[in-house]
Amino acid sequence: MCGIVGYIGNRKAVPVLINGLSKLEYRGYDSAGVSVNEGGLLKVIKCKGRLACLEEKLETEKLSGCMGIGHTRWATHGEPNDVNSHPHISQSGEIAVVHNGIIENYMQIKEFLKDQGYVFKSETDTEVIAHLVEYYYEGDLVDAVMKVIDEIEGSYALGVLCKDDENMFVCARKDSPLIIGLGEGENFIASDIPAILEYTRDIYILEDKEVAILTRDSVQVFNSLGAAVDKEIFKVNWDVKAAEKDGYEHFMMKEMYEEPKVIRDTINPRIKDGELVLDNVTITEEDISKLEKIYIVACGTAYHAGVIGKYIIEKLCRIPVEVDVASEFRYRDPLVSDKNMTIIISQSGETLDTLFALRESKKRGARILSIVNVVGSSIARDSDDVLYTWAGPEIAVASTKAYNTQLTALYMVALELGLKKGTITKEEADAILGQLKQIPNDIEKILENKEDIQKFAHQHYNAKSIFFIGRGLDYALSLEGSLKLKEISYIHSEAYAGGELKHGTIALIEKGTLVVCPMTQDNLFDKMVSNIREVKARGAVVLAITQEKHAEELKKTADTVITIPDVDSLVAPISAVTPLQLFAYYMALEKGCDVDKPRNLAKSVTVE
Ligand code: F6R
Repeated sequence: MCGIVGYIGNRKAVPVLINGLSKLEYRGYDSAGVSVNEGGLLKVIKCKGRLACLEEKLETEKLSGCMGIGHTRWATHGEPNDVNSHPHISQSGEIAVVHNGIIENYMQIKEFLKDQGYVFKSETDTEVIAHLVEYYYEGDLVDAVMKVIDEIEGSYALGVLCKDDENMFVCARKDSPLIIGLGEGENFIASDIPAILEYTRDIYILEDKEVAILTRDSVQVFNSLGAAVDKEIFKVNWDVKAAEKDGYEHFMMKEMYEEPKVIRDTINPRIKDGELVLDNVTITEEDISKLEKIYIVACGTAYHAGVIGKYIIEKLCRIPVEVDVASEFRYRDPLVSDKNMTIIISQSGETLDTLFALRESKKRGARILSIVNVVGSSIARDSDDVLYTWAGPEIAVASTKAYNTQLTALYMVALELGLKKGTITKEEADAILGQLKQIPNDIEKILENKEDIQKFAHQHYNAKSIFFIGRGLDYALSLEGSLKLKEISYIHSEAYAGGELKHGTIALIEKGTLVVCPMTQDNLFDKMVSNIREVKARGAVVLAITQEKHAEELKKTADTVITIPDVDSLVAPISAVTPLQLFAYYMALEKGCDVDKPRNLAKSVTVE
């Protein structure tokens, strides 16, 4: 949610900033801007709209200078317009700031600054930072930034330029991600690794309340007390191509094609001599025997993975599991104690509500196991145990491959807990592991047959409202199918448990209503067939997704049947989600939507 970039070195800053921002547009794309120190003058070019609008502007209004900051915005305070775009500049033009996050006490600070004679141009919370740094600035930029971060409340990743300092700039963070890229004679800051990967693989991950000074040749990091901090260099081991489209029309399609590989990457390193070995999960048999309940907490797609996790963990480990969306969990005074474990799921590892739910849980004594994709992210760092999903960078706003790997990780957690608790035998665990290992091959086949789904989407993209219904794990899958569809195609959609439909929602089914039914649960198959008959009797058109073995039978009831290779019902969601993702993709494409950057959304929600 908002992306920031900063550069100091011997190259012209603007091309580096624009290149970096282009890799961060997934974090927000309603306006963009850059500021450069040009011979002791802070110049700012910014505008409403996508990065392309800024690039167009920069063709006529050239900026030179080898140090600058840039921003791509997802509006929180103030509508997307030129004035509210970042960077924000202080009253006398002395300070320029880019910010990702929310300053919660900005109104009080604004009143204070107004009393000091500051005049505000924008409606943003960020503008107070620019003026406040100027207010405290007495020739030492770091000192002024330190004073500001002592005063502001909320979340921030900041890049700050001062017109007097042509050879250094300052950055800081709290609860919003920020990394520093270390180059030869040049240094960088960014909200995420892809922005600087073309230039360096050596990075520092800033901790909360750390402040750094960047010059061409040095990076100094300080903690909140002003003491120098010795940072460890983190080496990025994935290459630039991983964060590029690589010939695909959209990141989303590329990322679906990566599902087989990333599932293998998530499983294979954890099987050693035929045994499941979750290196970073240190929970012991004794710890497990004391667990009265497990909480799973996450947002959006990761939450939907958690719903599947509940079914699986309860089935294999016989421990009660409660799943909650993070924004509810953290404020509902949850009944969490040291008799609980909280499983946190997050692709980015930076979702603010999820991070705070983690901290709330930890405060109450629960053990934290997180399932995270981004190495070194805030959630990973705050957890007791971390199971990385190894999905690689996910750029499309709609999550796909991360979800498949979150499910894979949850199955492995369930196996680990079940084995340690003794609720499953080694033979049962081996059989499930064997099925998991088969899933990547199944997804490859599903992708080979994607044209069937494309054809169906071509016939139905004008649908006004689409229902997803399923039972058991297919209900959990329906939640994800429905979210994927609405977020990228803007078609209204709802997901219901098959048996729940007739308690109200069936009133909405009329002639021509499209109903999508994932049907991978053998023991619930007949019940779902009855549910299909009920909606068809009211005029619905039904698309069913099932294993090949059920196809002939199902064709007697459903209008269209899309098949997935035969797979055990227990692990079916990992491959059965791919047709739902493809369905959402092709519906969005048919409607001419921007698949990778859907309206109003941004990836990595680092604000509440
Ligand atoms: C939907 C989607 C979001 C995220 C949610 C949590 O396609 O991507 O619903 O799943 O914002 O994000 P993470 O997993 O980064 O915590």
